[in-house]
Amino acid sequence: MIIAGGQRSYFGILKRFLFGKLLENNSIYILKPSIMVFLTRRERFNAAHRLFRPDWSDEKNREVYGKCSNPMWHGHNYILFVTVKGEIKPGLGYLVDLSTLSKVIRETIIDRIDHKNINLEVDFMKGILASTENIAMAIWQELEPKIKELDVELHSIKLEETENNSAEYFGP
Ligand code: NI
Repeated sequence: MIIAGGQRSYFGILKRFLFGKLLENNSIYILKPSIMVFLTRRERFNAAHRLFRPDWSDEKNREVYGKCSNPMWHGHNYILFVTVKGEIKPGLGYLVDLSTLSKVIRETIIDRIDHKNINLEVDFMKGILASTENIAMAIWQELEPKIKELDVELHSIKLEETENNSAEYFGP
């Protein structure tokens, strides 16, 4: 795309941002047809879970899944990072309104999982082993169509179970 224009236009500002002062005095310059940017929203939730296979004994589950297989449940303070991608909306200067994105994440995921037992109460995790990886994938499946409605694409779901353990999913 070739754009001719003055410095006061949106593209003028963008050009200066992208190319710096070197091209500042050029009246014609080239922008890539699309410039992909990524935007991440962080949300938090607390939830209980247990990692276990019902067809195994408690001992076997403990052996394979460790402390997370405690039959009396336990909880984590999960941190969810939702990254979307797309092109900056001309005239708005952003990819997507962050408060709208936050609202969608809260309504689609957080309200359904926060302060819940993931194994017993979260419908989109029914019959799925409640590992960080599986939760991240299930969140993707729930969120992806809703994100599309915002005219951006879901890029990744990152879920931190603890400070040391996290899973990241980039879609099927
Ligand atoms: Ni756990």
